[in-house]
Amino acid sequence: MSIELYKDPQHACVMFTDLVPEEAEAVQANQFLIVDHDEGVILDPGGNMTYNELSLTMRQYIAPQHLDYILASHADPDIIASLDRWMTATQAKLVISKLWARFAPHFCKLGKTDDRVIAVPDEGGRLRFGRTELWLLPAHFMHAEGNFQFYDPVSKILFSGDLGVSLVSGEQASHFLESLTPMPPGMEAFHRRYMVSNKILKLWARMVRELDIAMIAPQHGAPLKGAAIGQLLDWLDNLDCGIDLMGAAQYQVPTAAMRI
Ligand SMILES: [Fe+2]
Ligand SMILES: [Fe+2]
Repeated sequence: MSIELYKDPQHACVMFTDLVPEEAEAVQANQFLIVDHDEGVILDPGGNMTYNELSLTMRQYIAPQHLDYILASHADPDIIASLDRWMTATQAKLVISKLWARFAPHFCKLGKTDDRVIAVPDEGGRLRFGRTELWLLPAHFMHAEGNFQFYDPVSKILFSGDLGVSLVSGEQASHFLESLTPMPPGMEAFHRRYMVSNKILKLWARMVRELDIAMIAPQHGAPLKGAAIGQLLDWLDNLDCGIDLMGAAQYQVPTAAMRI
């Protein structure tokens, strides 16, 4: 089922929360479609499990030839493992960090990505599509080394990728979080392990506080709005994570047999 996070006559932001089957033993993931004046982009379309439904629903908004870009926050399997199918069915270009531009073609058959990968420099930029633009915000090391978030100045939604994540079902992810009290399932453990360091979180929080944000829509779990947005920024600002928590104890030659 798709959810319209924003809609006006010329612009729409659509979220999909339940395309990964619960029985798949795969992490729940959200995918996003943004349409402006009949042109579209897809954000983090996911793997093969999400392709068919996402592709079908997209056609309710735009024709496949009007899909201009596939924006990938980074290169994980839950982000773009379906890339070969999108490259086959559309003429869209892949927009991804320059760190991953030569890795992403491994998802595709030979030649499918020729002249169709836009390598984004570390500083990001503003990408025109339709009659608007998407802002590609540096979000490196949150968690991937080359990582971008996407801000839509029309809807004022920040598509935050693997930041602001909670680990819930597809149905639960369709309900907005308006408070982080109590903390949603998985949020603290996820950020403590997947985010690289508090230094990075602080730098990011300082940057996004300059934006007018109506909603933060992560790639896993429920979107945040209202008080939850400020609460997330304040919490991340002070969160020890990643290498802050690592020491010699985490780097010992293992002696125990693995349970399989
Ligand atoms: Fe990831
Ligand atoms: Fe992810």
